[in-house]
Amino acid sequence: MGEQSPHRRRRLRTFVHQGAGHLAEEPASALLDLASNNTLALSDHPLLKQAAIDCISRSGVGSGASRLVSGSRPEHQALEHELANWLGRERVLLYPSGFQANIAALQILADRHSLVLADRRIHHSLLVGVRACGARLQRFAHNDLSDLQQRLMQQRRDDPQRQLVVLSESLFSMEGSSPDISALVGLCHQHDAALLLDEAHALGVLGPGGRGLGHGHQGISLLCGTFGKAFGSGGAFLACDQALGDALLQGSGAFRYTTALAPPLAAAALAALRLIAGAEGDVRRQQLCNTAEQWRAAIAASGWPRPPGQGPVLAIKLGDDRRANEAAAALEQRGLLVVPIRPPTVPEGEAMLRLSLRPQLPDHALGSVLEVLERCSGTQ
Ligand SMILES: Cc1ncc(COP(=O)(O)O)c(C=O)c1O
Repeated sequence: MGEQSPHRRRRLRTFVHQGAGHLAEEPASALLDLASNNTLALSDHPLLKQAAIDCISRSGVGSGASRLVSGSRPEHQALEHELANWLGRERVLLYPSGFQANIAALQILADRHSLVLADRRIHHSLLVGVRACGARLQRFAHNDLSDLQQRLMQQRRDDPQRQLVVLSESLFSMEGSSPDISALVGLCHQHDAALLLDEAHALGVLGPGGRGLGHGHQGISLLCGTFGKAFGSGGAFLACDQALGDALLQGSGAFRYTTALAPPLAAAALAALRLIAGAEGDVRRQQLCNTAEQWRAAIAASGWPRPPGQGPVLAIKLGDDRRANEAAAALEQRGLLVVPIRPPTVPEGEAMLRLSLRPQLPDHALGSVLEVLERCSGTQ
């Protein structure tokens, strides 16, 4: 292995939960967490904790087997059932992680004869899924639906019968941006392409009642959602129609041959779903959207480009790794935990700060970010 530049080296850090949205890297003092995806601040909600504790008291920690052997629990069934109702989908299947759910999805949607068209900024798990199923891969420019359209037209001219699959995220995890979902759905329909929409970052937060940005659009073949972000728990699911649900259950090793999602996580995700679907969810979502709008507007007013999108993820492009590292270190000195995002997670020369907001943040937090950005402006 070659020498890595000091700005590229990753440090594995361990943080201790300090309550009220703070993490501390012992022995340093607590930092306000603007790095994790706990965007509705539910991970330490008393109802989620109690649901997990009750589940552990009833039946222990692990499921001990895959769903089709003896690992299925009432918590799994209730969560699948309530999620399917909430989302208006025929079937929901749970997975231990979103990474695994995406691999399972590709395994069912595509094979070595298929062509997969993926947004250039798509999550790594989907690329691993494409590799695993052996399909050919083409990337289209980020959120550029005219590029996608050209490629779909070309493919249909070359081979009218070929299985085509399109991959996108409804809220991109690093950029905070979104595609035009109705146009995306329309294009896939027009060219008879299956659409897999990853809603990992939108679910619980955006769309009608937090049901995601794809909600209400007909023609999304498979939807991926995760419980490790706004739901404050862990694990993930795929939602689809009956036929695809059966195919996933019967034909995907990523479902059949893995130990079932730990029941306490399923119980906590179910508690989160009930909160998200109720009045408390509305309040948290509204606060989060207001905070996100206030921060975007303030960053733009200070002379920086307005961070794209409308959700809780704010990307501030700084360019080179050194600037991103220095900005993150300066924020840390002011009590804010913000992780610099560098290549290979983003393209070369596009290092950035990624802020993941919460419904309620102390007043000083935005001031500190603006102060650090102002210092950065002077170090181009
Ligand atoms: C867009 C997207 N999809 C899938 C995943 C994977 O989800 P999980 O963390 O549950 O494996 C992530 C997580 O980082 C993600 O950002």
